[in-house]
Amino acid sequence: MTMRIDVISAVPDSLISPLNTSIIKRAQERKKVDIIVHNLRDYAYDKHKQIDDKPFGGGPGMLLKPEPFFECIEKLISERKYDHILYPSPGGKFYNQQLANRFSLAENIMIIAGHYKGIDDRVRQKFATDEISIGRYVLTGGEIAVLVIIDSVVRLLPGVLNDSESALNDSLMDGDIIEAPYYTRPAEYKELKVPEVLLSGHEKKVKDWKEEQSKLLTEKWKKINNLE
Ligand code: ADE
Repeated sequence: MTMRIDVISAVPDSLISPLNTSIIKRAQERKKVDIIVHNLRDYAYDKHKQIDDKPFGGGPGMLLKPEPFFECIEKLISERKYDHILYPSPGGKFYNQQLANRFSLAENIMIIAGHYKGIDDRVRQKFATDEISIGRYVLTGGEIAVLVIIDSVVRLLPGVLNDSESALNDSLMDGDIIEAPYYTRPAEYKELKVPEVLLSGHEKKVKDWKEEQSKLLTEKWKKINNLE
């Protein structure tokens, strides 16, 4: 099965290069996912192709107008059923691995990216099924959040990661375990040494060391993030 992801954006160029790089590019070539980026401006039908306007009630900044979103979204939902219509926003539910796991089971996902001060709220009210925040900070637009969501979902699709890539991440599936650090050659560089045990060739000792490091790093991570 090929997952389909439709993204609607006022600045589609900001998405094109990251989506056509590395593993996400390969996932599309392997037909594991089809990512279609829609330019909001293509759905502005007035003669100036205007997509933004001043907010009612005043205040600084411009808002994305409702009509181009409605035109685009209504066309898409007339063509297929969407399991999720995501709206990245600082006011949304905090994104995490559990949500990524859930979204990775979908057949069709739509993501609506806001820009400038945001979107006329009627778009969210009418269409959004999930409002998602990627953290407690404000971005200039939803596009980076779109990329975070797509990257974290697509890497979970069967056949996207190669065995060696997925094995590396198995223990991260719930996002709450930090793995032991990794090293490669040279064994010593600028007087910085790779831990001796990793060079020992002793499988059991290496396994114990990785588990111990993982435990320590997970405890430290919980402490610095005030978890539990
Ligand atoms: N748009 C602007 N800030 C955002 C955030 N923190 N998460 C998701 N979308 C956003």
